[in-house]
Amino acid sequence: MKPFAVLIALTLSLGAASAHASPELAAKSKCMTCHDVAKKKMGPAFKEIAAKYKGQKGADAMLADSMLKGAKGKWGKIPMPPQKIAPADAQTLAKWILTL
Ligand code: HEC
Repeated sequence: MKPFAVLIALTLSLGAASAHASPELAAKSKCMTCHDVAKKKMGPAFKEIAAKYKGQKGADAMLADSMLKGAKGKWGKIPMPPQKIAPADAQTLAKWILTL
């Protein structure tokens, strides 16, 4: 176990931390109750969201706004209630979703 732990610590310190932080943040922020990265659940799959908005100017700010204020009518009949997360976390999550 020990060499493995050291390896993880090394990888994290090399900057992989931010790549893993967002899925954890999404889980912690309860996004995954309604979303999945690849499958449609109550809300659209994060990959579908990425495909729809990738390359659009200001898409990250717009998606962060959707999380903080809620969204409705963009994907279907079910609305997303406003999420109780910090604006900085919303930005992080939006940027991560757009990389999927
Ligand atoms: C109660 C269920 C629920 C939760 C919890 C939830 N969502 Fe959603 N989400 C939805 C639904 C439903 C939609 C589609 C809304 C629509 O059609 O406009 C959506 C849409 C979105 C969109 C697309 C918005 C747009 O402008 O097109 C993003 C991005 C998103 N969710 C991210 C998140 C993130 C990140 C979290 C966690 C902080 C989260 N959601 C938590 C249900 C949820």
